[in-house]
Amino acid sequence: METMTNLLGPLLQPTTLAGLPLSSRLAMAPMTRFRAPNGVPTPEVAAYYRRRAENGIGLIITEGVLVDHPSAGHETTVPRMTAGSAEHGWRQVTGAVHAVGGRIAAQLWHLGSAREPVDGVAAWTPSGVPADSHAITLSDIDSLLSAYADAATVAVRAGFDAVEIHAAHGYLLDEFLWPHTNRRTDRFGGSPAARAAFPAAVVAAVRAAIPSHMPLIVRFSQFKERDYTARIAESPAELGMILEAFTAAGADVLHASQRRFADPVFPGSPRNLAGWAKHLTGLPAITVGSIGLTRDFLNSGRQNELIARHEAGEFDLVALGRILLGNPAWATLAAAGRLGEINDYRKTDEDTYF
Ligand SMILES: Cc1cc2nc3c(=O)[nH]c(=O)nc-3n(C[C@H](O)[C@H](O)[C@H](O)COP(=O)(O)O)c2cc1C
Repeated sequence: METMTNLLGPLLQPTTLAGLPLSSRLAMAPMTRFRAPNGVPTPEVAAYYRRRAENGIGLIITEGVLVDHPSAGHETTVPRMTAGSAEHGWRQVTGAVHAVGGRIAAQLWHLGSAREPVDGVAAWTPSGVPADSHAITLSDIDSLLSAYADAATVAVRAGFDAVEIHAAHGYLLDEFLWPHTNRRTDRFGGSPAARAAFPAAVVAAVRAAIPSHMPLIVRFSQFKERDYTARIAESPAELGMILEAFTAAGADVLHASQRRFADPVFPGSPRNLAGWAKHLTGLPAITVGSIGLTRDFLNSGRQNELIARHEAGEFDLVALGRILLGNPAWATLAAAGRLGEINDYRKTDEDTYF
């Protein structure tokens, strides 16, 4: 029992993230669940997030929430921020999380090329890649920035403690960062800093819409869902240029998405992506990726490595995704050494919701 407590120990200590007090260093990674009819989160959604918050997760990051732009997304069960009674629904969610001492960030999302061409609206992309998409023009930019700012404004009203901008995994903002999908020759394309200019403009627009003390998190990745080997930065210097643009625009936390947290990013250093983000910018960083997926993780060298890297200051928060789907009380059980009550992650956990 004691050993187990020590295994999770530092991760269950309270902390502050860009000034926001958190009850632990564990975060719930954003996961799309398709449980918001007409974009409105239900009481079931509130109960789902509350269950994780009351079990040791210091910061909940919501599933991607579509910004209110016709090109943002098509799925009717993905939540929105501004549609119908969505704001009311989110207020129930934030209230439920706060009632158990948790904190919650809203992840703002635009699908870019992943939006299916339904309702006569083509996908919007930086450069018309893929070919049937609409290449965003300079006169389109303002409507996109407004959509993000409006969603952030509503998020504040709905009681969120922080906002996360989804700039990872090959969706719109990441399509600007990635040279393969950003072939622009204007100020939004070319060098790493230029490719970061539009995502950074989104950061600035959201920063201006939320209180100055509210943490603004940017999630980014090298990999894309459709290409695990893709990269936005070939070197620390290139990554530094991109992250510097985010920082200058007002980001104050970086959420570095990796498929496996311990994977090195650049040759010659074991540092992970969150470690690089923190090293290059000085901002606090969140790591994620295949943490705790099986019960035996907690008794393995991988858990020791996670703790050692955290204690060495490589990253500040540890985000858990898939393991929390079937184990809302994962952290409570792990801390108590009740490993027999933890279920290994199975793909079918994605079909359950509780
Ligand atoms: C069902 C599911 C939905 C996801 N939806 C999102 C999302 O909306 N936004 C996002 O940034 N990442 C999303 N992700 C990625 C997760 O946030 C996380 O980075 C990934 O699952 C790796 O962490 P894990 O190994 O702990 O699961 C999703 C992952 C899963 C499994």
